[in-house]
Amino acid sequence: MPGLKGPSDYSQEPPRHPSLKINAKQPFNAEPPRSALIASYVTPVDFFYKRNHGPIPVVDDIERYSVLIRGLIDNPRELFMRDIKMLPKYNVTATLQCAGNRRTAMSKVKTVKGVGWDVSAIGNGVWGGAKLADVLELVGISKLTSTTKSGGKHVEFVSIDKCKEENGGPYKASIPLSRATNPDADVVIAYEMNGEPLNRDHGYPLRVVVPGVIGARSVKWLDCINIIAEESQGFFMQKDYKMFPPSVNWDNIDWSTSRPQMDFPVQSAICSLEDVTAIKPGKVKVSGYAASGGGRGIDRVDVSVDGGKTWVEASRYQKPGAKYISDDMNSDKWAWVLFDVTVDAPQSTEIVVKAVDSAANIQPENVQEIWNLRGILNTSWHRVQVRVGHSNMDNEASFAGLESDCGVSKMFRTR
Ligand code: MTE
Repeated sequence: MPGLKGPSDYSQEPPRHPSLKINAKQPFNAEPPRSALIASYVTPVDFFYKRNHGPIPVVDDIERYSVLIRGLIDNPRELFMRDIKMLPKYNVTATLQCAGNRRTAMSKVKTVKGVGWDVSAIGNGVWGGAKLADVLELVGISKLTSTTKSGGKHVEFVSIDKCKEENGGPYKASIPLSRATNPDADVVIAYEMNGEPLNRDHGYPLRVVVPGVIGARSVKWLDCINIIAEESQGFFMQKDYKMFPPSVNWDNIDWSTSRPQMDFPVQSAICSLEDVTAIKPGKVKVSGYAASGGGRGIDRVDVSVDGGKTWVEASRYQKPGAKYISDDMNSDKWAWVLFDVTVDAPQSTEIVVKAVDSAANIQPENVQEIWNLRGILNTSWHRVQVRVGHSNMDNEASFAGLESDCGVSKMFRTR
Protein backbone atom coordinates (compact mmCIF):
# COMPACT_ATOMS: atom_id res chain seq x y z
CA MET A 1 0.00 0.00 0.00
CA PRO A 2 1.59 3.28 -1.03
CA GLY A 3 1.59 5.81 1.79
CA LEU A 4 0.94 3.42 4.71
CA LYS A 5 3.26 0.68 5.97
CA GLY A 6 2.97 -2.08 8.55
CA PRO A 7 6.34 -2.42 10.32
CA SER A 8 7.53 -5.87 11.36
CA ASP A 9 9.10 -4.68 14.63
CA TYR A 10 8.31 -2.31 17.49
CA SER A 11 10.98 0.32 16.88
CA GLN A 12 8.50 2.96 15.64
CA GLU A 13 5.81 2.86 18.34
CA PRO A 14 4.16 6.19 19.25
CA PRO A 15 4.59 7.86 22.67
CA ARG A 16 1.94 6.98 25.28
CA HIS A 17 0.76 8.46 28.55
CA PRO A 18 2.80 7.17 31.50
CA SER A 19 -0.23 6.52 33.71
CA LEU A 20 -1.61 3.80 31.42
CA LYS A 21 -1.48 0.32 32.92
CA ILE A 22 0.40 -1.83 30.42
CA ASN A 23 -1.08 -5.32 30.08
CA ALA A 24 1.23 -6.37 27.23
CA LYS A 25 4.16 -4.39 25.84
CA GLN A 26 4.54 -5.90 22.36
CA PRO A 27 1.94 -5.71 20.86
CA PHE A 28 1.00 -2.71 23.00
CA ASN A 29 -2.09 -3.27 25.13
CA ALA A 30 -2.90 -0.84 27.89
CA GLU A 31 -5.79 0.61 29.87
CA PRO A 32 -6.19 3.76 31.97
CA PRO A 33 -6.65 3.80 35.73
CA ARG A 34 -10.31 3.15 36.60
CA SER A 35 -10.88 6.64 37.92
CA ALA A 36 -9.81 8.23 34.59
CA LEU A 37 -12.94 6.78 32.99
CA ILE A 38 -15.34 8.67 35.25
CA ALA A 39 -13.49 11.98 34.98
CA SER A 40 -15.39 12.85 31.80
CA TYR A 41 -18.20 11.53 29.61
CA VAL A 42 -15.95 11.58 26.54
CA THR A 43 -12.73 9.70 27.27
CA PRO A 44 -9.60 11.76 26.44
CA VAL A 45 -7.52 10.11 23.70
CA ASP A 46 -4.53 9.66 26.05
CA PHE A 47 -6.68 7.64 28.46
CA PHE A 48 -8.53 5.57 25.87
CA TYR A 49 -7.55 1.90 26.08
CA LYS A 50 -5.20 0.70 23.36
CA ARG A 51 -5.69 -2.80 21.95
CA ASN A 52 -3.26 -3.95 19.29
CA HIS A 53 -2.21 -7.23 17.71
CA GLY A 54 0.96 -6.03 16.00
CA PRO A 55 3.28 -3.02 15.59
CA ILE A 56 1.55 0.32 14.91
CA PRO A 57 1.53 1.18 11.17
CA VAL A 58 3.39 4.20 9.86
CA VAL A 59 2.11 6.77 7.33
CA ASP A 60 4.94 7.88 5.10
CA ASP A 61 2.91 9.81 2.53
CA ILE A 62 -0.68 10.78 3.35
CA GLU A 63 -1.22 12.11 -0.20
CA ARG A 64 -0.65 8.64 -1.63
CA TYR A 65 -2.68 6.79 1.00
CA SER A 66 -5.88 5.26 -0.35
CA VAL A 67 -8.45 2.59 0.45
CA LEU A 68 -9.31 0.08 -2.22
CA ILE A 69 -12.94 -1.09 -2.45
CA ARG A 70 -13.30 -4.27 -4.45
CA GLY A 71 -14.87 -7.73 -4.53
CA LEU A 72 -18.40 -8.61 -5.57
CA ILE A 73 -19.17 -5.23 -7.13
CA ASP A 74 -19.21 -3.96 -10.70
CA ASN A 75 -16.84 -1.03 -10.28
CA PRO A 76 -13.93 -1.39 -7.84
CA ARG A 77 -12.52 1.95 -6.76
CA GLU A 78 -9.55 3.46 -4.99
CA LEU A 79 -10.57 6.19 -2.55
CA PHE A 80 -8.14 8.82 -1.30
CA MET A 81 -8.52 10.90 1.89
CA ARG A 82 -9.95 13.77 -0.17
CA ASP A 83 -12.70 11.48 -1.54
CA ILE A 84 -13.69 10.40 1.98
CA LYS A 85 -13.55 13.97 3.29
CA MET A 86 -15.80 15.20 0.47
CA LEU A 87 -18.66 13.08 1.83
CA PRO A 88 -20.93 14.54 4.55
CA LYS A 89 -19.14 14.45 7.90
CA TYR A 90 -20.81 12.84 10.92
CA ASN A 91 -19.74 12.90 14.56
CA VAL A 92 -20.91 9.70 16.20
CA THR A 93 -20.51 9.40 19.95
CA ALA A 94 -19.89 5.71 20.56
CA THR A 95 -18.43 3.56 23.30
CA LEU A 96 -15.84 1.05 22.17
CA GLN A 97 -15.37 -1.94 24.42
CA CYS A 98 -12.94 -4.78 23.95
CA ALA A 99 -14.62 -8.17 24.30
CA GLY A 100 -11.78 -9.01 26.71
CA ASN A 101 -12.72 -6.24 29.16
CA ARG A 102 -12.67 -7.69 32.74
CA ARG A 103 -10.86 -10.83 31.55
CA THR A 104 -8.50 -10.86 34.53
CA ALA A 105 -11.45 -11.39 36.88
CA MET A 106 -12.73 -14.25 34.71
CA SER A 107 -9.32 -15.91 34.74
CA LYS A 108 -9.51 -16.14 38.54
CA VAL A 109 -12.27 -18.76 38.15
CA LYS A 110 -10.20 -20.87 35.76
CA THR A 111 -7.37 -20.00 33.37
CA VAL A 112 -8.38 -18.32 30.11
CA LYS A 113 -6.29 -17.44 27.06
CA GLY A 114 -5.64 -13.81 26.22
CA VAL A 115 -4.28 -10.50 27.46
CA GLY A 116 -5.55 -9.72 30.97
CA TRP A 117 -7.70 -6.60 31.42
CA ASP A 118 -9.18 -4.90 34.46
CA VAL A 119 -12.42 -2.90 33.92
CA SER A 120 -10.98 -0.18 31.67
CA ALA A 121 -10.81 -1.82 28.22
CA ILE A 122 -13.62 0.55 27.34
CA GLY A 123 -13.90 4.21 26.42
CA ASN A 124 -16.33 6.69 24.95
CA GLY A 125 -15.21 8.62 21.87
CA VAL A 126 -16.61 11.09 19.38
CA TRP A 127 -15.75 9.60 16.01
CA GLY A 128 -15.75 12.03 13.09
CA GLY A 129 -15.85 10.78 9.53
CA ALA A 130 -17.97 9.58 6.63
CA LYS A 131 -20.75 7.07 7.00
CA LEU A 132 -19.86 3.70 5.50
CA ALA A 133 -23.29 3.71 3.82
CA ASP A 134 -22.24 6.88 1.91
CA VAL A 135 -18.82 5.43 1.05
CA LEU A 136 -20.40 2.28 -0.38
CA GLU A 137 -22.72 4.38 -2.52
CA LEU A 138 -19.60 5.64 -4.32
CA VAL A 139 -19.11 2.10 -5.65
CA GLY A 140 -22.75 1.70 -6.63
CA ILE A 141 -24.15 -0.06 -3.54
CA SER A 142 -27.37 1.66 -2.50
CA LYS A 143 -28.51 2.26 1.06
CA LEU A 144 -30.25 -0.66 2.79
CA THR A 145 -28.80 -3.33 0.52
CA SER A 146 -28.30 -6.81 1.95
CA THR A 147 -26.97 -8.55 -1.19
CA THR A 148 -25.17 -7.07 -4.20
CA LYS A 149 -26.08 -8.25 -7.73
CA SER A 150 -23.01 -10.48 -7.70
CA GLY A 151 -23.86 -12.03 -4.33
CA GLY A 152 -21.89 -9.82 -1.89
CA LYS A 153 -23.40 -10.10 1.59
CA HIS A 154 -20.57 -9.02 3.88
CA VAL A 155 -18.15 -6.11 4.07
CA GLU A 156 -14.63 -7.05 5.07
CA PHE A 157 -12.21 -4.44 6.43
CA VAL A 158 -8.53 -5.25 5.94
CA SER A 159 -5.74 -3.43 7.73
CA ILE A 160 -2.01 -3.23 7.10
CA ASP A 161 -0.62 -4.26 10.51
CA LYS A 162 1.37 -7.49 10.78
CA CYS A 163 -0.29 -9.84 13.27
CA LYS A 164 1.24 -13.09 14.44
CA GLU A 165 -2.22 -14.70 14.69
CA GLU A 166 -2.51 -14.10 10.92
CA ASN A 167 0.99 -15.48 10.37
CA GLY A 168 2.31 -11.98 9.78
CA GLY A 169 -0.71 -10.94 7.71
CA PRO A 170 -3.05 -8.02 8.43
CA TYR A 171 -5.87 -7.75 10.96
CA LYS A 172 -9.30 -8.13 9.31
CA ALA A 173 -12.95 -8.40 10.27
CA SER A 174 -16.32 -8.10 8.57
CA ILE A 175 -19.87 -6.97 9.20
CA PRO A 176 -23.03 -7.86 7.25
CA LEU A 177 -23.71 -5.64 4.22
CA SER A 178 -27.17 -4.89 5.62
CA ARG A 179 -25.58 -3.18 8.65
CA ALA A 180 -22.93 -1.45 6.53
CA THR A 181 -25.49 0.13 4.19
CA ASN A 182 -27.94 1.13 6.93
CA PRO A 183 -27.36 4.82 7.67
CA ASP A 184 -29.07 4.38 11.06
CA ALA A 185 -26.40 1.86 12.13
CA ASP A 186 -23.98 4.83 12.11
CA VAL A 187 -20.97 2.78 10.98
CA VAL A 188 -18.30 5.35 10.21
CA ILE A 189 -15.01 5.46 8.38
CA ALA A 190 -13.46 7.79 10.92
CA TYR A 191 -10.60 10.24 10.45
CA GLU A 192 -11.15 12.06 13.74
CA MET A 193 -11.40 11.10 17.39
CA ASN A 194 -12.71 13.69 19.86
CA GLY A 195 -12.37 16.47 17.29
CA GLU A 196 -8.70 15.79 16.43
CA PRO A 197 -7.22 13.72 13.62
CA LEU A 198 -7.00 10.08 14.76
CA ASN A 199 -3.67 9.36 16.41
CA ARG A 200 -1.52 6.41 15.37
CA ASP A 201 -2.58 4.14 18.22
CA HIS A 202 -6.25 4.56 17.33
CA GLY A 203 -6.00 3.99 13.58
CA TYR A 204 -4.54 7.01 11.75
CA PRO A 205 -5.29 7.79 8.98
CA LEU A 206 -8.65 5.89 8.76
CA ARG A 207 -10.43 3.40 10.94
CA VAL A 208 -13.83 1.79 11.00
CA VAL A 209 -16.10 2.34 13.99
CA VAL A 210 -19.00 -0.09 14.32
CA PRO A 211 -21.12 1.30 17.16
CA GLY A 212 -22.72 -1.10 19.64
CA VAL A 213 -20.49 -3.98 18.57
CA ILE A 214 -17.39 -5.45 20.29
CA GLY A 215 -14.30 -3.38 19.51
CA ALA A 216 -12.74 -6.20 17.47
CA ARG A 217 -14.86 -5.28 14.44
CA SER A 218 -13.73 -1.63 14.40
CA VAL A 219 -10.68 -2.17 12.21
CA LYS A 220 -7.89 0.41 12.47
CA TRP A 221 -5.44 1.55 9.73
CA LEU A 222 -7.81 0.67 6.91
CA ASP A 223 -6.19 -0.62 3.73
CA CYS A 224 -9.01 -2.22 1.74
CA ILE A 225 -12.69 -2.97 1.88
CA ASN A 226 -13.80 -6.24 0.28
CA ILE A 227 -17.39 -7.01 -0.62
CA ILE A 228 -17.60 -10.76 -0.07
CA ALA A 229 -20.19 -13.57 -0.05
CA GLU A 230 -19.37 -15.10 3.35
CA GLU A 231 -18.18 -13.41 6.51
CA SER A 232 -14.43 -12.77 6.73
CA GLN A 233 -12.39 -15.94 7.18
CA GLY A 234 -9.74 -14.04 9.18
CA PHE A 235 -8.44 -15.40 12.49
CA PHE A 236 -10.16 -12.73 14.58
CA MET A 237 -13.57 -13.59 13.09
CA GLN A 238 -13.25 -17.37 12.97
CA LYS A 239 -10.82 -18.39 15.72
CA ASP A 240 -11.24 -15.67 18.29
CA TYR A 241 -13.89 -13.35 19.74
CA LYS A 242 -16.49 -16.11 19.81
CA MET A 243 -18.53 -17.04 22.85
CA PHE A 244 -18.58 -20.67 24.06
CA PRO A 245 -20.28 -22.38 27.00
CA PRO A 246 -18.21 -23.21 30.11
CA SER A 247 -18.06 -26.90 29.04
CA VAL A 248 -15.94 -26.13 25.95
CA ASN A 249 -12.20 -26.52 26.47
CA TRP A 250 -9.11 -26.55 24.24
CA ASP A 251 -9.50 -30.31 23.64
CA ASN A 252 -13.10 -30.31 22.45
CA ILE A 253 -13.47 -26.88 20.82
CA ASP A 254 -15.07 -26.71 17.37
CA TRP A 255 -14.81 -23.07 16.31
CA SER A 256 -17.42 -23.49 13.59
CA THR A 257 -20.19 -24.13 16.15
CA SER A 258 -20.26 -20.51 17.27
CA ARG A 259 -20.75 -17.35 15.24
CA PRO A 260 -18.47 -14.33 15.52
CA GLN A 261 -19.59 -12.07 18.38
CA MET A 262 -21.12 -8.76 17.27
CA ASP A 263 -23.30 -6.71 19.71
CA PHE A 264 -21.95 -6.59 23.25
CA PRO A 265 -24.21 -7.40 26.22
CA VAL A 266 -25.14 -5.06 29.07
CA GLN A 267 -22.13 -4.19 31.21
CA SER A 268 -21.27 -1.99 34.19
CA ALA A 269 -18.35 -1.41 36.52
CA ILE A 270 -17.47 0.66 39.56
CA CYS A 271 -14.57 3.00 38.81
CA SER A 272 -14.38 5.11 41.97
CA LEU A 273 -13.07 2.17 44.02
CA GLU A 274 -10.39 -0.43 43.41
CA ASP A 275 -10.88 -4.17 44.03
CA VAL A 276 -10.04 -3.49 47.67
CA THR A 277 -10.16 0.08 49.02
CA ALA A 278 -9.58 1.38 52.54
CA ILE A 279 -12.19 3.99 53.48
CA LYS A 280 -13.29 5.94 56.54
CA PRO A 281 -16.57 4.69 58.06
CA GLY A 282 -19.57 6.63 56.69
CA LYS A 283 -20.63 7.87 53.30
CA VAL A 284 -18.87 6.65 50.17
CA LYS A 285 -19.41 7.74 46.61
CA VAL A 286 -19.86 4.88 44.15
CA SER A 287 -19.48 5.85 40.50
CA GLY A 288 -18.70 4.10 37.27
CA TYR A 289 -20.03 3.34 33.81
CA ALA A 290 -22.81 1.22 32.28
CA ALA A 291 -23.20 0.39 28.60
CA SER A 292 -25.08 -1.97 26.35
CA GLY A 293 -24.63 -3.00 22.74
CA GLY A 294 -26.93 -2.76 19.74
CA GLY A 295 -27.94 0.84 20.52
CA ARG A 296 -29.81 -0.15 23.68
CA GLY A 297 -29.88 2.46 26.43
CA ILE A 298 -29.43 1.90 30.15
CA ASP A 299 -32.71 1.83 32.07
CA ARG A 300 -31.31 1.32 35.55
CA VAL A 301 -28.10 0.98 37.50
CA ASP A 302 -28.42 -0.78 40.89
CA VAL A 303 -25.81 -0.57 43.63
CA SER A 304 -25.67 -2.78 46.71
CA VAL A 305 -23.64 -2.24 49.88
CA ASP A 306 -24.35 -5.67 51.30
CA GLY A 307 -23.02 -7.95 48.58
CA GLY A 308 -26.30 -7.99 46.62
CA LYS A 309 -28.97 -8.50 49.30
CA THR A 310 -30.48 -5.02 48.99
CA TRP A 311 -30.08 -2.40 46.27
CA VAL A 312 -30.33 1.34 45.70
CA GLU A 313 -30.68 3.00 42.33
CA ALA A 314 -27.82 5.19 41.09
CA SER A 315 -28.34 8.29 38.96
CA ARG A 316 -27.29 8.05 35.33
CA TYR A 317 -26.01 10.77 33.06
CA GLN A 318 -24.32 11.36 29.74
CA LYS A 319 -23.82 15.00 28.88
CA PRO A 320 -23.36 17.19 31.97
CA GLY A 321 -26.48 19.17 32.85
CA ALA A 322 -28.84 17.16 30.62
CA LYS A 323 -31.26 14.56 32.00
CA TYR A 324 -30.55 11.12 30.61
CA ILE A 325 -33.54 9.17 29.32
CA SER A 326 -32.70 5.80 27.84
CA ASP A 327 -33.62 5.42 24.16
CA ASP A 328 -34.66 9.09 23.95
CA MET A 329 -33.86 10.89 20.70
CA ASN A 330 -31.61 13.30 22.60
CA SER A 331 -29.53 10.58 24.24
CA ASP A 332 -26.43 9.14 22.60
CA LYS A 333 -27.72 5.66 21.79
CA TRP A 334 -24.29 4.13 21.13
CA ALA A 335 -22.66 5.62 24.21
CA TRP A 336 -22.25 4.59 27.82
CA VAL A 337 -23.83 6.32 30.79
CA LEU A 338 -21.86 7.29 33.84
CA PHE A 339 -23.55 6.66 37.18
CA ASP A 340 -23.11 7.72 40.76
CA VAL A 341 -24.73 7.26 44.14
CA THR A 342 -23.58 8.01 47.65
CA VAL A 343 -24.09 5.12 50.06
CA ASP A 344 -23.48 4.44 53.73
CA ALA A 345 -20.69 2.00 54.53
CA PRO A 346 -20.44 1.84 58.32
CA GLN A 347 -18.42 -1.36 58.20
CA SER A 348 -16.25 -3.35 55.82
CA THR A 349 -18.41 -4.80 53.07
CA GLU A 350 -18.75 -5.79 49.42
CA ILE A 351 -20.14 -3.12 47.09
CA VAL A 352 -21.79 -4.45 43.93
CA VAL A 353 -23.15 -2.90 40.72
CA LYS A 354 -25.45 -4.29 38.03
CA ALA A 355 -27.16 -2.54 35.14
CA VAL A 356 -30.39 -3.14 33.24
CA ASP A 357 -30.64 -2.14 29.57
CA SER A 358 -33.65 -0.91 27.63
CA ALA A 359 -34.55 -4.48 26.60
CA ALA A 360 -34.57 -5.41 30.33
CA ASN A 361 -31.40 -7.48 29.92
CA ILE A 362 -29.62 -7.76 33.29
CA GLN A 363 -26.02 -8.69 34.00
CA PRO A 364 -25.44 -12.24 35.27
CA GLU A 365 -24.73 -12.55 38.99
CA ASN A 366 -21.69 -14.78 38.84
CA VAL A 367 -18.75 -15.06 36.49
CA GLN A 368 -18.67 -18.89 36.85
CA GLU A 369 -21.80 -19.32 34.71
CA ILE A 370 -20.40 -17.29 31.83
CA TRP A 371 -16.79 -18.50 32.03
CA ASN A 372 -15.45 -19.26 28.55
CA LEU A 373 -12.01 -20.37 27.45
CA ARG A 374 -11.16 -17.13 25.62
CA GLY A 375 -12.25 -15.05 28.57
CA ILE A 376 -14.57 -12.76 26.64
CA LEU A 377 -17.61 -10.77 27.73
CA ASN A 378 -17.24 -10.92 31.47
CA THR A 379 -20.35 -8.94 32.28
CA SER A 380 -21.01 -10.45 35.70
CA TRP A 381 -21.97 -8.14 38.60
CA HIS A 382 -18.95 -6.03 39.40
CA ARG A 383 -17.90 -6.42 43.02
CA VAL A 384 -15.40 -4.42 45.09
CA GLN A 385 -14.44 -4.68 48.75
CA VAL A 386 -14.27 -1.70 51.07
CA ARG A 387 -12.29 -2.02 54.28
CA VAL A 388 -13.37 0.45 56.89
CA GLY A 389 -10.55 1.79 59.03
CA HIS A 390 -8.00 4.54 58.87
CA SER A 391 -7.78 6.01 55.40
CA ASN A 392 -6.54 9.20 53.80
CA MET A 393 -9.10 8.89 51.06
CA ASP A 394 -11.88 11.43 50.83
CA ASN A 395 -14.78 8.97 50.40
CA GLU A 396 -16.88 11.46 48.47
CA ALA A 397 -14.22 12.97 46.20
CA SER A 398 -15.82 13.94 42.93
CA PHE A 399 -13.55 12.99 40.07
CA ALA A 400 -15.58 15.03 37.61
CA GLY A 401 -14.95 18.06 39.80
CA LEU A 402 -11.23 17.64 39.35
CA GLU A 403 -11.40 18.09 35.62
CA SER A 404 -8.81 20.49 34.27
CA ASP A 405 -9.03 22.78 31.27
CA CYS A 406 -7.77 20.09 28.90
CA GLY A 407 -10.51 17.69 29.98
CA VAL A 408 -8.11 15.48 31.88
CA SER A 409 -8.40 14.98 35.59
CA LYS A 410 -5.53 16.65 37.46
CA MET A 411 -4.94 13.35 39.20
CA PHE A 412 -3.43 12.01 36.00
CA ARG A 413 -1.41 14.99 34.90
CA THR A 414 1.85 13.29 35.51
CA ARG A 415 3.66 15.09 32.72
N1 MTE B 1 -7.58 -3.11 14.05
C1 MTE B 1 -6.37 -3.50 13.67
N2 MTE B 1 -5.96 -3.19 12.44
N3 MTE B 1 -5.54 -4.18 14.50
C2 MTE B 1 -5.93 -4.52 15.77
O1 MTE B 1 -5.16 -5.13 16.51
N4 MTE B 1 -7.74 -4.46 17.44
C3 MTE B 1 -9.19 -4.50 17.55
C4 MTE B 1 -9.81 -3.25 16.94
N5 MTE B 1 -9.25 -2.97 15.65
C5 MTE B 1 -7.23 -4.14 16.19
C6 MTE B 1 -8.03 -3.40 15.29
C7 MTE B 1 -9.68 -4.64 18.90
S1 MTE B 1 -9.67 -6.21 19.54
C8 MTE B 1 -10.21 -3.60 19.60
S2 MTE B 1 -10.92 -3.85 21.10
C9 MTE B 1 -10.19 -2.24 19.08
O2 MTE B 1 -9.56 -2.17 17.81
C10 MTE B 1 -9.43 -1.33 20.02
O3 MTE B 1 -9.38 -0.04 19.52
P1 MTE B 1 -8.49 1.06 20.24
O4 MTE B 1 -7.10 0.53 20.38
O5 MTE B 1 -8.61 2.26 19.38
O6 MTE B 1 -9.11 1.29 21.59
